Amino acid sequence: LSQTEVDLTPIEPGQGIVVMWQGKPVFVRHRTETEIKMAQEAPVADMRDPAPDSDRVKDGHEQWLVTSAVCTHLGCVPGGSKSSEPRGDFGGWFCACHGSQYDTAGRIRKGPAPANLPIPPYDFLSDTKIQIG
Ligand code: FES
Repeated sequence: LSQTEVDLTPIEPGQGIVVMWQGKPVFVRHRTETEIKMAQEAPVADMRDPAPDSDRVKDGHEQWLVTSAVCTHLGCVPGGSKSSEPRGDFGGWFCACHGSQYDTAGRIRKGPAPANLPIPPYDFLSDTKIQIG
């Protein structure tokens, strides 16, 4: 399928899921107020792949983060979608393969990965449904 629809209603704040789009995994994360604030207030200039949080989410839907789930180091799928999994020092995702740590905007903050988790093309069909692709 070239497009994937995702129902957001079952995803609790603080939790995320992994969906498949074009044969590759994609993270869909429901950010809490605290996680949004962390992402907005993080020091962009110090980042390896500097990007403000506003470039990583859609206006008016800041609680939803949609990124590739493929670590930009060597392609593992980082853990942390479920809050029961280790999320690293920045509260996003932790790649157990070689220790890359991503923040709550999916930006690389520590470890060997060279770049942020890419954001696939997607749109909100309604407040509770997105279409990826
Ligand atoms: Fe993720 Fe190496 S593949 S840190």
